[in-house]
Amino acid sequence: MILNYENALIDRAAVLSVYADALRDIEAALYHGSLRMSGWIGGPKESRDGEMQRLQSAAKRIMGSASALVLVGVGGSYLGTRALDAMLSSGRHGVRLYYAGWNLSGAYHRQLLSRLEKETDIAVCVISKSGGTLEPAQAFSLLKAYLQRRYGNDWQSRVYVVTDARNGALRRETERMGYCAFAVPEDIGGRYSVLTAVGFLPLAAAGVDAEALAAGARAAASALRAEKIGENPCYAYAASCLWCQRQLGKSVEVFSVTEPSLHGLTLWLKQLFGESEGKQGKGIYPDTLLYSSDLHSMGQFLEGGRPISFESLISVAEKTEAVGDTASDAVWRRYADLNESMRRAVIKTRLARGTPLNCFTLAEMNDYNAGYLLYFFMLAAAVRSLLFSVDPFDQPDVEAYKREMRRFIAEKGEGYGL
Ligand code: PA5
Repeated sequence: MILNYENALIDRAAVLSVYADALRDIEAALYHGSLRMSGWIGGPKESRDGEMQRLQSAAKRIMGSASALVLVGVGGSYLGTRALDAMLSSGRHGVRLYYAGWNLSGAYHRQLLSRLEKETDIAVCVISKSGGTLEPAQAFSLLKAYLQRRYGNDWQSRVYVVTDARNGALRRETERMGYCAFAVPEDIGGRYSVLTAVGFLPLAAAGVDAEALAAGARAAASALRAEKIGENPCYAYAASCLWCQRQLGKSVEVFSVTEPSLHGLTLWLKQLFGESEGKQGKGIYPDTLLYSSDLHSMGQFLEGGRPISFESLISVAEKTEAVGDTASDAVWRRYADLNESMRRAVIKTRLARGTPLNCFTLAEMNDYNAGYLLYFFMLAAAVRSLLFSVDPFDQPDVEAYKREMRRFIAEKGEGYGL
């Protein structure tokens, strides 16, 4: 099994039977096309229409011409890639990824430019579905000026774009300037887009096997589709969370991990669930914890504070590698033992306090399994939002912030034009 899911305190069959009718309706809506923006539901499309080959050759071009790629994007246009970049970092031969345009800090971007100076050569990949989001637009204008200084007239050949196929300021600029460009599928929104060109292009340039990621996601799509509602682990997880909120009064879900390389995954999950279901006064507030560090801070609240949360602990099964008896093997063995006993201690104490605990264990971390894992949670977020009767794929209140910022820029006039 690629991903094992357990919850010791929740009777899975009982919970699933409570929500069985709602889940059947949701399944029909998701798979029979009545929901706009569910284009990811059958798994990644690129491999079906030949787009993957074009992506792979652009990734090779990036690898051949740069030591680093700056991904310019915010929210769903970068969090998934950043998560996978950290999760799949071992044994890769590709460019180093840097991230710009996910905040409005001048200090951050100044420091980024000075880091880029130390790279032999760079390329820039700007990702924005709407093509008009403030943070990436601001960072892209900064990086364009930097590329022009560094590469003169040839700077455009170092720009790669992923945006809407037809609309938006970035698409118009792409046509004008002749950047190498890929489209975000029309029926897939930001936080559900990591398994499209949005994630595949930068990750392939960084040496991740995008074909394997896509294959893992397609395997999850078909495995979870084939499961009967009463046995489907993804539906069981979604329904258990709702049960925790409605029956046990738990309003917070804590995504926790014991490996720093999985921290980015929890940030992606926070966005995925928070932005999908937090609307109309509904939803479960998502938070993230990284153990053991957070056991020395938030561990107190979780064990002694108001019992408002349930937890979703995500780990990777430890590889049972033959270990020699050298001193350094003993050190790594000790780390592995300590980390695992810390994980077990967390499970034990949470259960002793009656905190519902979703335990997810990935059999092994590799590109294929990572694709499986991400698809699992995208489906869970969509199902859970629909159980709350909200649209998983819109973000009306984020749009309000974007509108306010556009108004501010318009008031400032010319000098702020990006
Ligand atoms: O999930 C979403 O839709 C958002 O987080 C967007 O990805 C984010 O706001 C960035 O939007 P865009 O890709 O249009 O720049």
